[in-house]
Amino acid sequence: MRLAKFLAHAGVASRRAAEAIVAEGRVTVAGEIVRDPARDVDGSEPVAVDRRTVRVAAEHVVYALHKPAGVVSTAKDTHGRRTVVELVRSPGTRLYPVGRLDADTTGLILLTDDGDLANRLTHPRYEVPKTYVAEVEGGPVRERALRALRDGVVLDDGPTAPAGVRQLRSGVLELTLREGRKRQVRRMCEHVGHPVKRLSRVAFGPLRLGDLAEGAVRRLSPAEVQRLRDAAARPDRGQG
Ligand code: URA
Repeated sequence: MRLAKFLAHAGVASRRAAEAIVAEGRVTVAGEIVRDPARDVDGSEPVAVDRRTVRVAAEHVVYALHKPAGVVSTAKDTHGRRTVVELVRSPGTRLYPVGRLDADTTGLILLTDDGDLANRLTHPRYEVPKTYVAEVEGGPVRERALRALRDGVVLDDGPTAPAGVRQLRSGVLELTLREGRKRQVRRMCEHVGHPVKRLSRVAFGPLRLGDLAEGAVRRLSPAEVQRLRDAAARPDRGQG
């Protein structure tokens, strides 16, 4: 396994951050500094970061959290707001949020100590679908606007990819996106003249929020984690 991947698996950092740590000369394999993140390691030689030995955790954890509004999904907040990591009690484990939700967005967010899985689930290459329910202003939304949202609209950072969009009831849209640009749902809806009043994520790849109460957390079963890994293993896989 590549050294950077080994470090990500061990929960040291995300794969990209692990590459930087290696390049900085902070990592030794069998006592020798290695600066090549692609160096092959098989676990038989001791790996250390900043002189501390790294062990690959026997088992990774993945949690699903129903994020309430007002909580931020970064690991730390410079404004002192509560973070999603603080809502999950998992002593001795360093958890990473899988992607981001805006502070005012509610719904399903995953947290894991598996930096490699977190990376894959959010990497555009794997196009893991995410489904949102958006309550918008000025409903009902006309067919023309729905079609524009489905086909793609041109935002200031480029056109959006085709999306699944349907109107569940007047002014309430369900949108399934295979990309995850900043405030994308809000910007798309605003673009077609229907600013978002409330936004919630109801599914991430094969996982649904279901009846998990707002603020509640549950650990995913091994079978659910496997389905997530499968969704992030090959391009163009995911829901269903
Ligand atoms: N799109 C948004 O606009 N906000 C989110 O939090 C997630 C997707």
